[in-house]
Amino acid sequence: MSRIQSVKARRVWDSRGKPTVEVEIVLDNGCLGRAIAPAGASRGSREALDLRDGGASLRGVDVSRAVANVNGPIAATLKGLDVRDQQAADNAILELDPSPLKEVMGGNAVVATSLAVLHAAAIDAGKPLWRHVSDYYGQQPSLPLPEIQIFGGGAHAGRRVDIQDFMIMVPGASSFDEVMEITSEVYFAAGDIMASRGKTAGLADEGGWWPVFDSNEEALETLVLAIEKAGEKPGERVVISLDVAASEFGKNGSYRLALEDREMSSEALIDMLGRWLDAYPIVSIEDPIGEDDPEAMVEFTRRFGDRVQIIGDDYLVTSARLVEEAANTGACNAVLIKVNQIGTVSEAVETFKAAKSAGWGTIVSARSGETEDVSISHLSVGLGAGQLKVGSFQRSERMAKWNECLRIQDELGSDAFVGDAPLAKTWWAS
Ligand code: PGA
Ligand code: ZN
Repeated sequence: MSRIQSVKARRVWDSRGKPTVEVEIVLDNGCLGRAIAPAGASRGSREALDLRDGGASLRGVDVSRAVANVNGPIAATLKGLDVRDQQAADNAILELDPSPLKEVMGGNAVVATSLAVLHAAAIDAGKPLWRHVSDYYGQQPSLPLPEIQIFGGGAHAGRRVDIQDFMIMVPGASSFDEVMEITSEVYFAAGDIMASRGKTAGLADEGGWWPVFDSNEEALETLVLAIEKAGEKPGERVVISLDVAASEFGKNGSYRLALEDREMSSEALIDMLGRWLDAYPIVSIEDPIGEDDPEAMVEFTRRFGDRVQIIGDDYLVTSARLVEEAANTGACNAVLIKVNQIGTVSEAVETFKAAKSAGWGTIVSARSGETEDVSISHLSVGLGAGQLKVGSFQRSERMAKWNECLRIQDELGSDAFVGDAPLAKTWWAS
């Protein structure tokens, strides 16, 4: 048995230049596990809260209190525990902070610690992280189908357009490597189109092109054009995926598309998205409805759930309870898994399992504030989650995750790529 000897946190910096928490766990045999907390910008109101210092310095977002919580109470409670018992370690952390939003210890302190335990256990077992996850949770490993952003938007691009992510998926590829290749062609074709229209304006937070468009739909039209310019037929090997992130522009069943100066009811939003689903090869849509509008989410799922993947992100905040509730009421048919939305690895895996028992799709996801930490690549492979959402195809905090999957592909074999399996039910062209 290998025991946790020390737990140490330090302040490091994320892809937006904001402070975040890194945790290192050393075992009595010298093995070391390390992880860094990511940070969201378009956050669900029910997700775990990052503990930030407030005040004037560093615009109030410093993390010295979260770091102190790891170095103090969390370290004291984890010392001496068997690192292989992830559940016991996570339970010990949760006993220190039973608050629903982890506001006592801080979601950032909790997630970095829990992931560091997982890393330390993998090192101790002499296994790559994905293999440890697969063995510990009894899941068949596979290489995920990526969702890759071409245009950013919403809270990640100064709200230049209302819709947050315009992404592609390449379910028709024969390997993970081929997904990367085709994505590169589409990504730079989109860049060329923007440049030829005099609309080059840099990158959004997750590396997608900054969206200089006159309407939200123009982004979709341009994306289709980019897929064609890359030599692909939209709806065949390459399809579209959207993250509407509707909670960001809707409250109490009323939605405001600022770019188009349009106020919409839930029904009007559902109709508009329905038109897009008819007109464009969209196979997956995330948070089409706001987190506080469950009846509309049920209605959206009733109307379109048989032909499109409907992912709850802010709507479900990686909560097993909310997934079960949504499955019972008929809202959504897939869940985004972001460990830092719920807090610990154990809770995130519980949510993953709840989604699987409901027959749902599962998508392991990064946040818009990321780092060189590549834990999510391993989680998606080790759980056999089926899909991975990391952001776009530039910026090293994004590319690090895709590149890690390529390394894993070498270990696991390219046959382990799931391709269109997770979307088989919702294949647009069929
Ligand atoms: P966030 O957004 O990390 O800024 O919350 C990502 C998403 O909505 O999927
Ligand atoms: Zn989202």
